[in-house]
Amino acid sequence: MVAYDLIGGSLIALGALSIATMRVGANWGVSALDRTFGLQEAASVRHPSRGGERRQHQHREPSVVALGGNMGPRLIIVSNRVAVPEPGTKQMAGGLVVAVKAALRNRTGVWFGWSGKIDETETAQPRIVERNHITYAVIDLSKTDFEEYYNGLANRVLWPILHYRVDLQKYSRDDHSGYMRVNCLFADKLSAFLREDDVIWVHDYHLMPLAHEMRARGHRNPIGFFLHIPCAPLDILLTLPHHDEILGALTYYDLVGFQTENDRDNFAAYLLAMPGAKEGRGLTFEVEGRQTRIGAFPVSIETAAYARLARNAARSPLAKEIRESLTGLRLVLGVDRLDYSKGIVRRINAFDRFLEVNPEWRSRVTLLQITPRSRSDLKDYAAIENEVTTLISRVNGHYGEASWTPIRYINRFYSRTALSGIYRAADVALVTPLRDGMNIVAKEYVAAQDPENPGVLILSQFAGAAAELTTALIINPHESDAVAAALKRGLEMPLFERRERHGPMLEHLLVHNIERWAEDYLAALAETRQRTSLMSELRAFLSPSKPSTDRRQP
Ligand code: F6P
Repeated sequence: MVAYDLIGGSLIALGALSIATMRVGANWGVSALDRTFGLQEAASVRHPSRGGERRQHQHREPSVVALGGNMGPRLIIVSNRVAVPEPGTKQMAGGLVVAVKAALRNRTGVWFGWSGKIDETETAQPRIVERNHITYAVIDLSKTDFEEYYNGLANRVLWPILHYRVDLQKYSRDDHSGYMRVNCLFADKLSAFLREDDVIWVHDYHLMPLAHEMRARGHRNPIGFFLHIPCAPLDILLTLPHHDEILGALTYYDLVGFQTENDRDNFAAYLLAMPGAKEGRGLTFEVEGRQTRIGAFPVSIETAAYARLARNAARSPLAKEIRESLTGLRLVLGVDRLDYSKGIVRRINAFDRFLEVNPEWRSRVTLLQITPRSRSDLKDYAAIENEVTTLISRVNGHYGEASWTPIRYINRFYSRTALSGIYRAADVALVTPLRDGMNIVAKEYVAAQDPENPGVLILSQFAGAAAELTTALIINPHESDAVAAALKRGLEMPLFERRERHGPMLEHLLVHNIERWAEDYLAALAETRQRTSLMSELRAFLSPSKPSTDRRQP
């Protein structure tokens, strides 16, 4: 700790100095600082068995050759689902997909994860698919793995807990061991094609223990993690049985990224509750001799490209058809996966209330709710589908006319282009999650608007996006009256106020776009790694006779 305090200032200065080198694609496995101070040699002298042998072995792997041979440092993205574009199929671009594609753009990289297919025969090597300059490496899962890891611990336990819905979590030991088993499987398959200088970036709650598994297999690569969904407060996190094995395993990552400062601070409180944990400088924590850093990196969109897409899509036949079908009705839009966290029931209740208290708006407005089905194998998802369907038919039955349907409800996917045109046509977007990591729909809606005549965004205070899109009409989705009032205000808002609200949000998104998100995260990962490696070397130097307690550097 003394060494840390003494060197803190110069460490940061040195880190900043060398960060530029890292950004232009220097060797990530050995930091610029390591090279500057000759620490690379020192490290390999101390660990003679590590370098050569395994590196040569790895490079003989056929999958490595398929992945591009010895072309230099690669960014290995790991996520549960890998969106391999299949010819002739439309793909829903969720937040994670957009983010990962941005991270891989202009970088040598591989996207590794589950193919989305169930197969009982374990794939010996990941299948390699090249599409549009991205290399995909995918594995299948067995039915049991899918059930216990994906449906089970990930979506019946972690998803509800992290979305503050402890009441919905259904923990079982079988699911827990299935989750750990699949994380081991991912670690084995990843190890088979990993190179020493690869940078690994793991995404989302399915793969929290992956860094621990990789370290246990001896890999010293920089490994970062990003949580796309919210992080609940400490008391809620502690309801997860054996949370230390899962949430505690995040301390094996060099950098753990969150969507908002609130999520980050919730996790900081969790870290500080871990036995023996200490907080260092710059959001760095030391747990059992390991150092991990945390940070907030709000996910974004390709703002300028999305705005262009929407402008063009507004002239498409689909947009024309939608406009014609409205026959003068104003359009309110909701776009969400069918998920209980999205607040769809509350939204329909609020729309119901709006029609009840504002009879002058009946027959003048329609709510278009686009809601692709999701995780349909799970009971809670089937239940929410029933509830939404029943509620919508009640509202339509109650207020509808032969010539007017208050709510148009659609369960199909729309392509990214089609959706952008629909966003542009909508007078108001109703984004009312009860809890959401970020909510990309809110950002896409803003980007899709005509800046001269923009629509109005109504946004839940519980979406991560609310911390950035502060000139939206921010509402509490639990108060139907308030949402109904915001809807009336949005529909009646004069042009100058719509512009005044929309302008700063668009400006913010043009600067804080997805490319910047990826750059900021990767730069922070590089910097974290430099700090950690310099610290370890200094510790070893200051007390040469003591064995290192840093488990990353056995
Ligand atoms: O982060 C949550 C998330 O991964 C989103 O990016 C994505 O839209 C959604 O969940 C997809 O969930 P699933 O892979 O379970 O269908």
